[in-house]
Amino acid sequence: MSKRNILITGGAGFIGSHVVRLFVNKYPDYNIVNLDKLTYAGNLANLKDIENCPNYTFVRADIADLDTIRAIVSSHKIDGIIHLAAESHVDRSIKDPFTFARTNVMGTLALLQAAKEYWETLPEKFGGKMFYHISTDEVYGALELTHPEGLESPFATTASSSDHHLAFGTEFFLETTKYNPHSPYSASKASSDHFVRAYHDTYGMPTIVTNCSNNYGPYQFPEKLIPLFINNIRHRKPLPVYGKGENVRDWLFVEDHARAIDLIFHKGKIADTYNIGGFNEWKNIDLIKVIIKTVDRLLGNPEGSSENLITYVTDRAGHDLRYAIDSRKLQRELGWEPSLQFEEGIERTVRWYLDNQEWMDNITSGEYEKYYDDMYLNR
Ligand SMILES: NC(=O)c1ccc[n+]([C@@H]2O[C@H](COP(=O)([O-])OP(=O)(O)OC[C@H]3O[C@@H](n4cnc5c(N)ncnc54)[C@H](O)[C@@H]3O)[C@@H](O)[C@H]2O)c1
Repeated sequence: MSKRNILITGGAGFIGSHVVRLFVNKYPDYNIVNLDKLTYAGNLANLKDIENCPNYTFVRADIADLDTIRAIVSSHKIDGIIHLAAESHVDRSIKDPFTFARTNVMGTLALLQAAKEYWETLPEKFGGKMFYHISTDEVYGALELTHPEGLESPFATTASSSDHHLAFGTEFFLETTKYNPHSPYSASKASSDHFVRAYHDTYGMPTIVTNCSNNYGPYQFPEKLIPLFINNIRHRKPLPVYGKGENVRDWLFVEDHARAIDLIFHKGKIADTYNIGGFNEWKNIDLIKVIIKTVDRLLGNPEGSSENLITYVTDRAGHDLRYAIDSRKLQRELGWEPSLQFEEGIERTVRWYLDNQEWMDNITSGEYEKYYDDMYLNR
């Protein structure tokens, strides 16, 4: 295996930490540089198990700070970038769209520009280089919910649930689906995707973009539905459900996303796009009931007894009804298959949050942020 210097941005976040862990463990000959600003969503406790590995370096920096990014890319002789750093929470984007434009659009542009400038100074230029941008299915907009009770899904992967294998409409997002973002978050991600493709088309930079469905699993910041609800059930707090809980999302276990990223980074076709998803659609309210059932069982509560914590709240503005990814291109061309079925993924996820209460408490108390301020503020 050849030596490589890979920059992973956003590695202290949810998905990024799984990608960093996978690369550090699987590729001892690669130098993995994790670049993260450590916003409220970044948490180095997510990487405790690998932080002392000789092939791992952490750098605290802001992707939108072009001069700093230039210096990092050239001093670490970066030849591959996997870009996950982003502001990622739709509700926050509704309150503060400018932060999303700054990080997701200007930050991606700064990374592209820094990589381009450095790579153009090398004798081989873009040869053997890769800028891989991680995006979301939300850029495609919303699909119709034509079958509110669900149809038998025409497709399956190992990520699909065994006893609930439904599609809530007949359309799916393809790689060719026209972009139609609705939230400031998805608009900022769409814009960053366009910049990445523009750097390929204009300058010849080797790029890849992937669009993935909702991820679930360990280390997700507890403002997102699954960890929030597990924690609230444990503490007997209300479970706020938007509208009637009718919105449909397609869920994939985070380690399967990380494995797809590994495969695509190494084998994907330059300038191409791949959709990543598990053909695992759930209405929010049905997913919430599965979580309640699992948490109740593992905590020894009478099964389903926490359903009385459900509280319906006013729907999110512009809330997209249904997302459903068609990931057959990735399966067909690169042979990717998710490893975990939904039931197993949910069980592992719930157990992880229940077993890692200290991790959760450090976040909910704000302890983890104080620690970084002491450690890094004056560097
Ligand atoms: N979570 C999902 O279900 C999902 C699905 C598809 C795509 N994605 C995409 O995957 C990527 C990672 O998502 P996530 O859920 O892990 O997000 P996250 O919010 O958990 O983590 C984001 C990370 O980026 C860092 N960051 C934020 N602003 C930064 C900046 N200006 N400079 C450097 N670092 C910064 C944060 O500190 C954090 O560690 C995002 O690009 C997101 O759009 C997420």
